[in-house]
Amino acid sequence: MVNPSSSTAERPTNPLREGLSNRPMPQPCNIVIFGASGDLTYRKLIPAIYNIAADGDLPTALAVVGFARREKTDAQFRTELEEAARKFSRQGVNDELWKSFANRIFYQRGEFGDLEAYKSLAARLDKLDAERNTRGNRLFYLSVAPSEFPGILEMLAAVGLNKTREGSWARVIVEKPFGKDVESAQTLNTVVNNVFSERDTYRIDHYLGKETAQNIMVLRFANGIFEPLWNHRYIDHVQITGAETLGVEGRGPYYDNAGALRDMVQNHLLQLLSLVAMEPPVELSADAIRDEKVKVIRSLRPMSFEDVATNVVRGQYAAGTINGKEVVGYRQEDRVNPKSMTETYVALKAHVDNWRWSGVPFYVRFGKRLAKTGTEIAVQFRSAPDVLFSRDADVGPNVLVIRIQPDEGISLRIQAKRPGASVKIEPVKMDFHYGTSFGKASPEAYERLLLDAMSGDATLFARRDEVEHAWQFVDRIEHGWHQNPEPPTLCEYPAGSWGPSEADDLLARDGRTWRRM
Ligand code: BG6
Repeated sequence: MVNPSSSTAERPTNPLREGLSNRPMPQPCNIVIFGASGDLTYRKLIPAIYNIAADGDLPTALAVVGFARREKTDAQFRTELEEAARKFSRQGVNDELWKSFANRIFYQRGEFGDLEAYKSLAARLDKLDAERNTRGNRLFYLSVAPSEFPGILEMLAAVGLNKTREGSWARVIVEKPFGKDVESAQTLNTVVNNVFSERDTYRIDHYLGKETAQNIMVLRFANGIFEPLWNHRYIDHVQITGAETLGVEGRGPYYDNAGALRDMVQNHLLQLLSLVAMEPPVELSADAIRDEKVKVIRSLRPMSFEDVATNVVRGQYAAGTINGKEVVGYRQEDRVNPKSMTETYVALKAHVDNWRWSGVPFYVRFGKRLAKTGTEIAVQFRSAPDVLFSRDADVGPNVLVIRIQPDEGISLRIQAKRPGASVKIEPVKMDFHYGTSFGKASPEAYERLLLDAMSGDATLFARRDEVEHAWQFVDRIEHGWHQNPEPPTLCEYPAGSWGPSEADDLLARDGRTWRRM
């Protein structure tokens, strides 16, 4: 996948890798993480960069600079990160490798609004360029609340860190939440794009970095058998499920403002939907792929207040039992409003109004504190004609299930004859498991995404128009909940269940049921 951006035009090719991989090479650079004392740095970013190093994919000329408010030396920062890497890395930490890796990590103390701190940062980056040959390339990672974006960006611009010298680049990675409605997203986009061009802006949606999400396009467009069937003539409906046993995990204040629809559906699940529903792109470039995804999001039928009342179910978990352990209800969670009306579950029926998908419902659901953790896409085909075998037996439809996580893989349910003298038909599964087929663990989403940002490949990052159109769809639902004088009820479900019964009714009305995971 190649980004046509000019900043990658002079990308060096490593002759030893030629023919081995079609992905651009990550380039030497300095990665600056704002919010370096945050959870994401310890749990995801540093373990990801370490794993890239362990796999031999990290450019040798690379340094990581953590920028945060707390007083800390480089040595302290390295020790803390080592502890975290040992805990959170997907592969064990090798002592020797860690030692050389740690030498590339630095800490820069500073308030986000303090110009002097940015001057020191700029000087430090210049020094690192000179010492380590990082060529003036900079990757700024904003792992902070969006309210901090404007201040940080303004300071970066004030010291010229958003500008590059001839032959080098400066890019920014921004973490979600990217706005809380279309207006705030547009404002945020403008703030970012005033300082970094869209071409140099990388909006993280970590679901796009998951191997299985990337495999959706391969499954659809590298196989000849699926695409002819991938439309309203052969597909009855699609179900996209995200389920978590986890609750809000200490993120009460954020979550109570966001809710499941904004936290999971607007970004992650709509991204999966667009990969399933998109047309084949004209080429595998970042923009060609994202053009097709945007068309899907734009084709989502906007919902009126009545549609929201009929086609969307919102729920909130009450106390219950998960894996034999009692857990409190959402309103009793730490720093959550005891009268909160925020949804921790959402189920909806969406329509992609284009030729391919006319009349095919997309059922999307997500919930916290459900019975099981897993994300999957189930494509249910139309049943075989009601003659021959189907006349006397309950012959179920074919279902193609794409397991995003865990146990990543794909299975196809088909009907087969049970061995014996009589004709008894039973569903069986043709199953592909990543683990057993490829014999190696999939890299973490952040590994892939960081590598891509270092390589200038924006394919797996959300583009401005994608994000804004997704908000437009989601905003109509939020309005249907919060601006309707007679809002639909917030349904309660016990923790450890599969969500409110109203979500089952949503499908039952159409003569369908949710797939059991
Ligand atoms: C995050 C949400 O973006 O994604 C969390 O804020 C959610 O609430 C998480 O739990 C799910 O990610 P994953 O990769 O664990 O499915």
